[in-house]
Amino acid sequence: MVFDPASLRPFSASYPNLPARLRHHLTDHPLLEIDRLVVLARVLPESAVEYNSGDLPIGQDPAKTPMNGLTPEETVRRIAENKSWIVLKNIEQDGDYAALLEGCAADVAPSVKAATGEMHKCEGFIFVSSPASVTPFHMDPEHNILMQMRGTKTFTIFPAKADAIVTDEQHEAFHRAGGHRNLPYKDEYASLAENVELSPGDALYVPLKSPHWVKVGPEVSVSLSVTWRSEASDAEAQLRRANGWLRSKGLTPPRPGAAPMRDRAAILAARLAARLKRS
Ligand SMILES: [Fe+2]
Repeated sequence: MVFDPASLRPFSASYPNLPARLRHHLTDHPLLEIDRLVVLARVLPESAVEYNSGDLPIGQDPAKTPMNGLTPEETVRRIAENKSWIVLKNIEQDGDYAALLEGCAADVAPSVKAATGEMHKCEGFIFVSSPASVTPFHMDPEHNILMQMRGTKTFTIFPAKADAIVTDEQHEAFHRAGGHRNLPYKDEYASLAENVELSPGDALYVPLKSPHWVKVGPEVSVSLSVTWRSEASDAEAQLRRANGWLRSKGLTPPRPGAAPMRDRAAILAARLAARLKRS
């Protein structure tokens, strides 16, 4: 088991809509040591590496995110001093990391299947961050468990369905145009936040599209994110795409959930359109 079985019970009760804390046993895993991650940063294709200056405000404009001037490999090797954060994406491209992810996914798969349908598109992301780095306010299109391996993080998470933070139009743009995941931040959102402190061995289930921002503690941080899609997350994305298309034609679609029969028809139409586009 990767996760402590006692912590899988609260995860099952919270999934898919509420955050949940878990405990994991990967803290000393050799695939997550800095020396091994330097190698991974070197061999992954350029498209699978994202790195930024870590000295960013919470509400960073994605178009103006500064780079740090180093190679990915050097960024990881010198992470203690270069005020950066780096994401090694789709680590399942490497067979060793694919096996690691399979172990994580196997522990949660029964709960996932029962609540949101079969889990698929399981992907892994490793975050290596300098002390005090900030990952700006954003949301992600997947179910996610973030596992802390080294150092500490404060993970500030907001409810997934807070209309005051993310409007229907923003959800639609996110799915239709592959809108950048960073979100504009306002101080008035702070009252909706929950601050989750993560130390090595801790993990946090982050519900689909729960906005969050992250601040690393006083030491280098290494975290592993295991993400997946489900039948429910696919349907939500298809509905948002369909509604965005209608809105672009001057119509006002009902809020998701207000007209379930109509939502199902829109999801089927979006699926059909996607299939036609592919063929
Ligand atoms: Fe995220």
